[in-house]
Amino acid sequence: MIKTVSTSPYNGQKMGTAGIRQKVQTVLQKNYLENFIQSLFNAIGGVKGQTFVLGGDGRYYNDIALQKIIKMAAANGMKKLIIGQNGMLSTPASSHILLKNHADGGLTLSASHNPGGINGDFGIKYATKTGGQCSSAVSDKIFEETKRITSYKILETDDIDLSKKGVQKLGDMEIEVIDPIEDYLELMQQIFDFDAIKKLFQSGFSFVFDAMNAVTGPYAIKIFEEALGAKKGSVINAVPMPDFGGLHPDPNLVYAKDLVSLMYGDHAPDFAAANDGDGDRNMILGKKFFVSPSDSLAILTDNYRYIPAYKNGIYGVAKSAATSTAVCRVAKALGVDCYEVPTGWKNFCNLMDSKRITFCGEESFGTGSSHIREKDGIWAVLFWLNIIAATGKSVSQITRDFWKKYGRTYYLRFDFEAIDLKVADDLMADLENNLSSFEGKTYGGRKVTSAHPFVYQDPVDGSQTKNGLLVYFEDGARICYRLSGTGTNGATLRVYIEAYEKENFDENPKDKLRSLLDIAMTLAQIEKRTGKTKPDLTT
Ligand code: G1P
Ligand code: ZN
Repeated sequence: MIKTVSTSPYNGQKMGTAGIRQKVQTVLQKNYLENFIQSLFNAIGGVKGQTFVLGGDGRYYNDIALQKIIKMAAANGMKKLIIGQNGMLSTPASSHILLKNHADGGLTLSASHNPGGINGDFGIKYATKTGGQCSSAVSDKIFEETKRITSYKILETDDIDLSKKGVQKLGDMEIEVIDPIEDYLELMQQIFDFDAIKKLFQSGFSFVFDAMNAVTGPYAIKIFEEALGAKKGSVINAVPMPDFGGLHPDPNLVYAKDLVSLMYGDHAPDFAAANDGDGDRNMILGKKFFVSPSDSLAILTDNYRYIPAYKNGIYGVAKSAATSTAVCRVAKALGVDCYEVPTGWKNFCNLMDSKRITFCGEESFGTGSSHIREKDGIWAVLFWLNIIAATGKSVSQITRDFWKKYGRTYYLRFDFEAIDLKVADDLMADLENNLSSFEGKTYGGRKVTSAHPFVYQDPVDGSQTKNGLLVYFEDGARICYRLSGTGTNGATLRVYIEAYEKENFDENPKDKLRSLLDIAMTLAQIEKRTGKTKPDLTT
């Protein structure tokens, strides 16, 4: 029986760059989830007759939220739900299934790389039929709906069994439970040279993939161990857990520290990689070697010819403004366009749809291509393995050869966390007002050539977005400031710094960028305004 339940609006259900993301404790409030889902359905003109893809990264509350959403979809007249077995879907697999089935939308229950468990975060990513995140116009509309919602619809029925593959009916709605890993594997086989990678593993190449107790474990076992023949046990932390076993599933030097120590120790395998909670981020490591995500994007682009799916040529490339300029130098050499877009994957999607770009990436460990409309962690790992198999070179050799060819862009991101919201907003507003006064002046021996807000005009829909403040120096160094859009605890100020070197490749990035960090802190008056004398997190 369809029930109409009265409810009242909550504040704070605004979508960020990738959907809603909240503390579990917030989401547990009465009707919070129901309000959001009904508002979303209302905002997109209802879901009657539509097909949606549904799944999540297995984090705490996924099981309960899935059942609620299934029952609400049925009550709202949805025609069909395609659901990952046991309710599990990585973000890239979800985008793929959505596109493959020409579905009208997708919901991925995940707070990406944020911690899970009852005291962690929960989130919902909404994708449109394009396979990517919705426009800000649509997310604004959803937010407006959440402010005036008075009731939601839900089917009163028992929970649905999501453990068995196959089709079942719920009222008039069809539910198809699928094995998403099979579809995803097939897609990867169409892109990469699996035979070459198999030979690489047969030759004794050693490999570790850290799934961080999150969604990619089963995908990685199927692809790397079963299909490609990596040694059994190569995939570690392979069983998805509601609290990720206490790990913070963000693949970077700080949160994947066990993997990093392994790679810097005496028994390091040839290659290691990690993915985040929902499988769209990646970190690449060689023996005693870390590849910065900005470099990784540039290196993949420079080596595209080794990959069967791209060997006939690529369109352009794109990076977020905060990401280092390394890939732009490659694009220039290849004679393809390099776009600079605001932070957030959705800004790449119009460029992919209009065939302006093939590859894109962000400094925050996200890399991807037009095969789907999300970043893709396993795709990036396979890309590296394919290059290694084709060239016979190690991760560090490939990267060093790249630096020799293009120079090295030293790059780091410095985060100042949990700042009072007003303090952060004022800091950014005043910095923006002061920007032009920096031009032509010298700070710490470096002359500012230009300083301005980053404003992007989307070449497809003409929309304008302002996101971040940029300061350029005469020697090629650059500082970018922006406030995080995904944090759940006060404001996070991100300061992204790069310096370019033609010859000197062996400095520690922290040492290399220290003086620029000092300049960045002075220009934005970070210590005076926040009381912080150093960043809370450097990645
Ligand atoms: C962060 C990253 C950004 C990424 C987003 C979603 O957003 O910086 O590159 O697209 O997560 O994964 P931020 O918190 O900086 O707004
Ligand atoms: Zn993610």
